Amino acid sequence: MRRRIPAVDLATAIGSVRLPNPVCTASGTSGHGIELARHLDLSELGAVVVKSLHADPWPGNPAPRVHATPAGMINSVGLQGPGVAAWLEHDLPDLLATGARVVASIWGRTVEEFARAAELLADAPAGVVAVEVNASCPNLEDRRNLFAHSVSATAEVVDAASAAGRPRWAKLSPNTPDLPEVAAAAAAAGAEAVTVANTLLGMVIDVEARRPLLGAGRGGLSGPAIRPVAVRAVFDTHEAHPTLPIIGVGGIAAAEDVVQFLLAGASAVQVGTATFADPAAPAKVLEDLGRWCDRHGVRSVSELVGAAHRSEGGG
Ligand SMILES: Cc1cc2nc3c(=O)[nH]c(=O)nc-3n(C[C@H](O)[C@H](O)[C@H](O)COP(=O)(O)O)c2cc1C
Repeated sequence: MRRRIPAVDLATAIGSVRLPNPVCTASGTSGHGIELARHLDLSELGAVVVKSLHADPWPGNPAPRVHATPAGMINSVGLQGPGVAAWLEHDLPDLLATGARVVASIWGRTVEEFARAAELLADAPAGVVAVEVNASCPNLEDRRNLFAHSVSATAEVVDAASAAGRPRWAKLSPNTPDLPEVAAAAAAAGAEAVTVANTLLGMVIDVEARRPLLGAGRGGLSGPAIRPVAVRAVFDTHEAHPTLPIIGVGGIAAAEDVVQFLLAGASAVQVGTATFADPAAPAKVLEDLGRWCDRHGVRSVSELVGAAHRSEGGG
């Protein structure tokens, strides 16, 4: 008799948003539209999170913008983008036509700019299932400190994003010891979930030129080098807020990496830097996740969420 391979239930819920599986793209690493569609079926992913959009077109930072680092990369792309209105007109229709669930990421330099970006999304089609509020960007009204480093500023931008009229996810920064408090503030302001986390602050110096290598000087570190930091950030956030849905992100390149984030407390994950090495990485990670679960007798990914807290070691 042939052995029947048990189907793994990969479905997950992020607050009110139901996704067929937990593997999404990470904002900024797969463009604004269908850039990855030549390499994978975007409708098979949990969701496609597009690069953060400002209310207006934005030129980004001077080159060089990216540089390889040990086990990762550093970038200071500077949130270049076409602006929400142009994205709605030129990028979103093709993206929705793929059948993908789309998450629109927004950013601003002031609370008012977040509000304007959100307002422009109010009439977006229903395929835009959520808005990710990228609070990990500089606040012009607070000496360029990141919004996500402040409990009150995070609450303000999450609140401002309510103008979009759809579920809000707050994208937080791992560069603050107050992450659990910031997550609580985001939730209190209406975020249905928190995305943990954005890049680590970093810099590479060009020793021949004796100055910072990236055009903008400072940058954000990503890739496998930051994975343990991101896993701990998810773990701490879940420990402090066990009922708050978390989307884990940072250095995911394989199914085992996804499982780490789920065990730490994430209900979904995003694949970012791995996509630069292999544009099909999100789809491959998803396929491998199904096999991993099957091999380990996991019938539903929901069994894994937060399970590391139930068998926590010391240290
Ligand atoms: C080139 C590049 C551009 C990025 N742009 C954005 C962005 O526009 N908005 C955002 O919220 N995060 C952005 N990120 C951060 C990623 O979404 C992700 O949080 C981070 O890179 C960690 O995940 P990873 O190690 O899988 O890349 C960017 C990352 C990279 C490498």
